[in-house]
Amino acid sequence: MSNDARELASLGERHLWGHFTNLSLMQRIGLPVIERGEGAYVYDAQGKKYLDGLSGLFTVNVGHGRAELGQAAARQAEQLGYFPLWSFGHEPAITLAQRLAALAPGDLNRVFFTSGGGEAVESAWKIAVQYFAKIGQPERRKVISRNFAYHGTTLGALSISGIPAMREPFEPLFPWAVKVMNTNRYRCASCEKAPACTLDCADDIERKIIAEGPETVAAVVLEPMQNTGGALTPPEGYFARVREICNKYGVLLVSDEVICAFGRLGEWFGCQRYGYQPDMITFAKGVTSGYAPLGGVIASDRLAAPFIEGDGSVLMHGLTFGGHPVSCAVALANLDVMEREDILGNVRRNEAYFGEVMEGLRDLPLVGDLRGAGYFRVVELVKDKATKESFTPEECNWLLRDVLSPRISRLV
Ligand SMILES: Cc1ncc(COP(=O)(O)O)c(C=O)c1O
Repeated sequence: MSNDARELASLGERHLWGHFTNLSLMQRIGLPVIERGEGAYVYDAQGKKYLDGLSGLFTVNVGHGRAELGQAAARQAEQLGYFPLWSFGHEPAITLAQRLAALAPGDLNRVFFTSGGGEAVESAWKIAVQYFAKIGQPERRKVISRNFAYHGTTLGALSISGIPAMREPFEPLFPWAVKVMNTNRYRCASCEKAPACTLDCADDIERKIIAEGPETVAAVVLEPMQNTGGALTPPEGYFARVREICNKYGVLLVSDEVICAFGRLGEWFGCQRYGYQPDMITFAKGVTSGYAPLGGVIASDRLAAPFIEGDGSVLMHGLTFGGHPVSCAVALANLDVMEREDILGNVRRNEAYFGEVMEGLRDLPLVGDLRGAGYFRVVELVKDKATKESFTPEECNWLLRDVLSPRISRLV
């Protein structure tokens, strides 16, 4: 390692507080410092090349090193570096909102911008609660989401998230966030042995709505395909049933598309892939391919109506950097790249090939299950195929760090 690279890593070890990072481990093994990116690869400060298989954090949908996205940011910063969307508009936010409205399905046509995904999820919850209060249903405050689903880490979003280890240090969290079964067919206690999914996972939503009292439930928040647990695809008929349940009890369906949008599943939005109409979409990440931070909620005029009509009362919610002009300009340039290069079509064209390659792994003794769609797939490794026993966290660390990563990096 050069002296400069070593110095940078040691400054990072001293001053940087990494997210979800084991600081003591970093002191021992050294902080990896990534210097630049190109296409599907990134390079560290010593010039070592890595395949960025996770696309940052499911974020860099058009790949690294796109100069035109940087140029769009520079042009916007020169023109208008910042202005809030608090009672003002600016051209990049307006144009982007209009463009997202055109891409979103059905009547979704009004965008509330945030600076990231967790904020988008919390914003959707707050919009739902205030909407119901305005139409005379103030008791509707609860939100339903799935076990092990990840929807962000700020306290509101964390309440919606269902990952016990992340929640535990901060409990008790918001009491109005209720959890239901997820769609892990490989490990489903209810219908794993049945020839096909019985949709008990969807019916669980109805059971919880009834148990909580339908008049108290504001929203159901679901990813089109759940990330945590490993690319948990929705079974056939799942979203049609969920939509039916939400309609029956007057509950809003929020599609958390922070990962599943902008080509990840070969469509602009994951709900288009699975053919359902949500009442709100939350998005972030791929909207700018990560070249600038941005997120948001796409809602319909129906939800905005109580804020427009009558006394015109205000949505009591806002963020300084929500809809930052530089981020919006980057998002517009990113959507241009996606359209020009037919990124969505590329995902669809490669999908069958990816599936075939993965199927070739099925017989390996370590491979328990293969799942996913588009560019969002998982190979679930197990200790024992017959019992589906998982590895312990220590074994996972060893397997990932000491066995798989070195072997995969030899292939890159
Ligand atoms: C589905 C989903 N929702 C919300 C979030 C939180 O997004 P952010 O980290 O931008 O707050 C994530 C992050 O990965 C996510 O996957």
